[in-house]
Amino acid sequence: MVLVNFRLIHDEGRGSRSKRAVNAQQEGIPSLNHTHYHTYDEISEWLDEVGRSCGSACSVFSIGNSTENRNLKVIRIGSEGANKPIVWIDAGIHAREWIAPATALYIISKVYSRSRLNRYLNTKYTWYILPLANPDGYDYTWTSDRLWRKTRSVHPTNSCRGVDPNRNWGFHWAGLGTSANPCSENYHGLQPFSEPETQAISQFVLSLGDRLLVYLSLHSYGQYWLAPWGYTYRVPDDYLDMLYVGNQAADALKRVQGTVYEVGASSRLLYLAAGGSDDWAKGVAGVKYAYTVELRDTGRHGFILPASEIQQTGREMLQAVRVLALIVLREQRLLERQQTTNSAPS
Ligand code: ARG
Ligand code: ZN
Repeated sequence: MVLVNFRLIHDEGRGSRSKRAVNAQQEGIPSLNHTHYHTYDEISEWLDEVGRSCGSACSVFSIGNSTENRNLKVIRIGSEGANKPIVWIDAGIHAREWIAPATALYIISKVYSRSRLNRYLNTKYTWYILPLANPDGYDYTWTSDRLWRKTRSVHPTNSCRGVDPNRNWGFHWAGLGTSANPCSENYHGLQPFSEPETQAISQFVLSLGDRLLVYLSLHSYGQYWLAPWGYTYRVPDDYLDMLYVGNQAADALKRVQGTVYEVGASSRLLYLAAGGSDDWAKGVAGVKYAYTVELRDTGRHGFILPASEIQQTGREMLQAVRVLALIVLREQRLLERQQTTNSAPS
């Protein structure tokens, strides 16, 4: 069983269709206001409430702690099944990119509702969503510095704090586009996974095994759907598959309200940056569809995106994620069929 090593905060027991579980599914989950941004405490409490009221349809648990001992709370939606593919979504690895956690919360509250599509997706997939991958940094953006990006870890000899958690992953760590200077916004840390956050997330992601088909990391801003690699201008062997699926997702996103996301390799569309989570997911964890998504906007408001755009950003992104899940599922089926045909005696 996958979750054995991680502390369960709330799990009403899977598989037991208690009256409460059925009720919860019928009534939906505690609502969250998507017209403003929420603090770490509010998000944390809401997740716990969801965990308490969703019965066996979800579970909320912590996969580890941050430097300042905040929980890294993950929600699983959809039952665990031996052969069910998994979609992973994390958000907020960069503290100031507030629209990312807000979008993750929007997705959580919708992936959940009782629409037919959701019921279908939740029986086919298990979703794991981590809305606040850098809770210390996030809290700091509320209390002290709205534009803080990094973690809040302490350096042994330098008074500058924090590591860029998206330069800290153990794949081409300390490569191009990273800095060894603790005061830099792109500081890669003293070693790969020096940060408790990236360490906990990477361990959990690895524990999901080869059923993990999609890895999405939500950032802002720029409106890009980015594929690896970030550490080099070269692209993965199956880049065209990634581009195809990314384009389908971006097309679906655009159909909602016309918002345009550019699709391509992050090194080419943005800049070289090694040690990112998407590169690691693809290069080490072996997740075929690993992307970083830079959400709204393209620079007018930048990191300080007005809360009035949360719902629109969420709605279009939800659509993109659903289409992506459906396409990957279809592809998976075709592959399986091919494999059975190939192994049939001739
Ligand atoms: N804006 C993101 C960052 O700077 C982009 C990450 C893209 N992925 C990558 N592996 N470089 O972290
Ligand atoms: Zn970012």
